[in-house]
Amino acid sequence: MEKVKVGIVGVGGIAQDRHIPLLMEHPQAEVTTLFDVRLDLAEQVAQTFNIAHVATSYDTLFDQVDAVVICTPNKFHSEIAIAALNAGVHVLCEKPMAISKKECDDMIEAAKKHHKILTVAYHYRFTDVAIEAKRRIDEGVVGSPVVSRIQALRHRKVPGWGVFTNKALQGGGCLIDYGCHVLDLVLWLLQITQPTEVSGRTYNKLSKQPHQINDWGEFDHETFNVEDHATSYIVFDNDATLQFECSWAANINSDKLDISISGEKGGLQLFPFEVYEPRNGEYLIHQQDITLNEDKAAERQTDNFIKSCLGIETPVVKMEEARRVSQIIEAIYESNEKKQTIQL
Ligand SMILES: NC(=O)c1ccc[n+]([C@@H]2O[C@H](COP(=O)([O-])OP(=O)(O)OC[C@H]3O[C@@H](n4cnc5c(N)ncnc54)[C@H](O)[C@@H]3O)[C@@H](O)[C@H]2O)c1
Repeated sequence: MEKVKVGIVGVGGIAQDRHIPLLMEHPQAEVTTLFDVRLDLAEQVAQTFNIAHVATSYDTLFDQVDAVVICTPNKFHSEIAIAALNAGVHVLCEKPMAISKKECDDMIEAAKKHHKILTVAYHYRFTDVAIEAKRRIDEGVVGSPVVSRIQALRHRKVPGWGVFTNKALQGGGCLIDYGCHVLDLVLWLLQITQPTEVSGRTYNKLSKQPHQINDWGEFDHETFNVEDHATSYIVFDNDATLQFECSWAANINSDKLDISISGEKGGLQLFPFEVYEPRNGEYLIHQQDITLNEDKAAERQTDNFIKSCLGIETPVVKMEEARRVSQIIEAIYESNEKKQTIQL
């Protein structure tokens, strides 16, 4: 059986917890080479997972593989993806695609020029609940979407590991880290092509307070320079709107993940999954017990990437769609800085 030789660049948390184990289990993939700026870590991970090679640069890794999974801090996604694509290597880039729309444009240009796969790890699309929501929307139950809402609020979950609270390396905080997942999911469900107007505000007031309780490790409130809460209002070219709020640390009772779409014919909510269907003078509410199941979703994501590399499938997450997510996030940051609505 033909196997895709895969390399990993950046072998920290997500590489070890998700990508390496899933790729090693995949019958058509083989993880051959690792690279990390921390060579000692790459060697340790290679030993743990019994991976044959550790490269001393990402360029030498690209000589040894057909595909790469990029798991570095966000700042390096674009540079490494472009180098991989130029070397003729397919790319699965961790989310977000990049820090700016310009970086995404450059990545897409390289992928098109070299006819290579470029996709982004927006694994929420592969969850059971997302697949069912998409199926119901494609069936026409919602009709044309009118107003959608996202509340992705964590109560006390600032990531205390890695560089998640470092703006220079990540490009931002909860919005670019967590918000990107739910934004991608909803844009995919809505099947809307173009955002036209974005306004937003970002805040880091809570995490700047000393002595915070945090469920996800410790961080330094003095060096914390990203947002822990963001709100936004997004208008699309068909006049549909999206009200979007996300947070790592909110003064609320507990974590809340609420996504709903109201269309001209009906509506749906994701958590818990419900479909609303006004029909013949009755208001029908269908409830289904479907969960997020992120592990299963990640498995499907890996499978889709490997099969795309082999030409058996096409990527579920199209590069232009991932660029649109980054474009909106960049516009929310710009809107906050300028205190004005951004026209796209
Ligand atoms: N899809 C998800 O749900 C999910 C979850 C966690 C993280 N992520 C994404 O994965 C990426 C990494 O996150 P993480 O939690 O694994 O972080 P991490 O800090 O645990 O690991 C990052 C690794 O990259 C290495 N690195 C840094 N700069 C590098 C460079 N220029 N070249 C090669 N290696 C470099 C670091 O030494 C480190 O080992 C981020 O983009 C993050 O947004 C996605």
